[in-house]
Amino acid sequence: MKLMIDGNDEKPILVSGVKPTGRPHIGNYFGAMKQFVDLQNEYRSFIFIANYHALTGAQNSATLVEDSYNIALDYLAIGIDPEKTILFLQSDVPEVTELAWIFNCITTMPYLMRAHAFKDAEAKSKEVNVGTFDYPVLMAADILIQDADVVPVGQDQKQHLEMARDIAEKFNRIYGETFKLPTPIIKEDVAVVPGIDGRKMSKSYGNTISLFGSDEEIGKAVMSIVTDSKTPEEPKDPKTCNIFALHKLFSANALPDIEKRYSKGGMGYKESKEILAENILAFIRPMRDRRNALASDRGHILRILKNGGEIARERGLAKMRTVRERIGLVIA
Ligand code: TRP
Repeated sequence: MKLMIDGNDEKPILVSGVKPTGRPHIGNYFGAMKQFVDLQNEYRSFIFIANYHALTGAQNSATLVEDSYNIALDYLAIGIDPEKTILFLQSDVPEVTELAWIFNCITTMPYLMRAHAFKDAEAKSKEVNVGTFDYPVLMAADILIQDADVVPVGQDQKQHLEMARDIAEKFNRIYGETFKLPTPIIKEDVAVVPGIDGRKMSKSYGNTISLFGSDEEIGKAVMSIVTDSKTPEEPKDPKTCNIFALHKLFSANALPDIEKRYSKGGMGYKESKEILAENILAFIRPMRDRRNALASDRGHILRILKNGGEIARERGLAKMRTVRERIGLVIA
């Protein structure tokens, strides 16, 4: 799909944000992170670190700085190419907060009260801050200020995308055609990566395998994958084995062989785990090495972010000039 942008035959615009939280695991990688790498050739990509959004949660400046820096390293290490993807800090386009205010004034309270994230937060905690309540509006501003054509997100963000489209439509209706309606890219077929207990890999279950873990960490996680107590000789059912579920992701070439040995009997869980750990490490090592190499030059990472921020801000400022005129903030 090619679209005409600003009269030029350019690639369509992709925008997405990632919240700077903790260390990624292989479930994050296959579920979400990898998508940005896969799409960066096809689209003009703008990926930002959502540090304003992070403020709705834990509030610690040193942690936010380091988490933001680390997530930039993570994405560069997995193959985000700063020549193709504009990688930047959300806060380097402060105009999104101005746009969020403008959107606030055309968005109703009952509408935002329908947001799943707000309802969940309200159900869980006594006090919900206004930022959490307004989260979808800031997200709409992130997307619409860049004239996004597509927004790749996880299933959990689907409602936020619908809200961004609603807000764009409402603005356009009131003030005239100004914002493009973004199309979500939600991969329905993403492999649900099983954790070491067989449930979906998730930080909240404590069943993760770290994406950039050391050999020891990976080995330890794999060795603690939960299995039944069959002896090596006994035949095993690959379909119900948590180790085998991970082999499917990491042991593609050896899969038929492992499957055969499972059914016939003669492959113990220990051996299966050892093969898996080797294959996971073979997969992780190049990214881990790249991450280590990148981490040796903090200045380089900061330059990538700064440069990305300047490009993104220029687009944001241009968009805001139109918005400000449309809504009557400019007296001529
Ligand atoms: N809410 C998104 C998440 O939690 C992060 C995000 C913020 C985002 N702004 C965005 C995603 C704009 C896509 C587009 O994952």
